[in-house]
Amino acid sequence: MDSASRIQVLYDACDAVFSQMELPNFQQIQWLRKILDSIEAIDVGIDEFSTLQSPSSSPEDSKRLMCGQNVSNITYIHIHQCDNFSIGVFCFPAGGVLPLHDHPRMTVLSKLLYGSVYVKAYDWVKMETNNSRTIGLAGKVMDGIMSAPSEPTVLFPRSGGNIHSFTALSPCAILDVLSPPYSEELGRPSTYYWDTPIPSLPGYAILEERDLPEDLVVKGAPYLGPPIAIAMEIC
Ligand SMILES: [Fe+2]
Repeated sequence: MDSASRIQVLYDACDAVFSQMELPNFQQIQWLRKILDSIEAIDVGIDEFSTLQSPSSSPEDSKRLMCGQNVSNITYIHIHQCDNFSIGVFCFPAGGVLPLHDHPRMTVLSKLLYGSVYVKAYDWVKMETNNSRTIGLAGKVMDGIMSAPSEPTVLFPRSGGNIHSFTALSPCAILDVLSPPYSEELGRPSTYYWDTPIPSLPGYAILEERDLPEDLVVKGAPYLGPPIAIAMEIC
């Protein structure tokens, strides 16, 4: 019998951990991090070295892969979403910027699959919402460059850098697991922010909600990795 694909192993572990009523404990997070650490671009259908314009259009070509070095826009590959978690990959061209955004009430595990990215991340110290706009003081958690291979990162609702931005320094891809997933209806929208450093308070900034950046283009692309067997929901 074939052994399960790495993405299937990740899906099964997410299903086990994020379907429970309780928040994940430390051991479960470490378990997920270890699984994420084993995943490479090829496991999610990306050829990180390919510079071809697009995947082969031949339907018979079972080895068709997304070409990692030649995406022209930030591209999101949706792998799975259910009520409890989502799995997907952001592919960036060099210079691609995903502006500061938050992950309300979420736990997010991320693995840089290839390339280099400049990451800035904050956690709220104190925030308030005036006229439906959120503003507040935030402490910087990360301000530096991540290059593959690097260990998976994890952020939590109030720690680990819940508000972050990415600037790709080379073509790169980030595999993300979000739990629970974004949902406008359930009060978990994605909100974008401006940050203004405070000269007299190094390491802190004022974050102020902004409109969805007009120049932000995120395209969708099909998932070309191994199919995932989805667990049946038992009602
Ligand atoms: Fe994010």
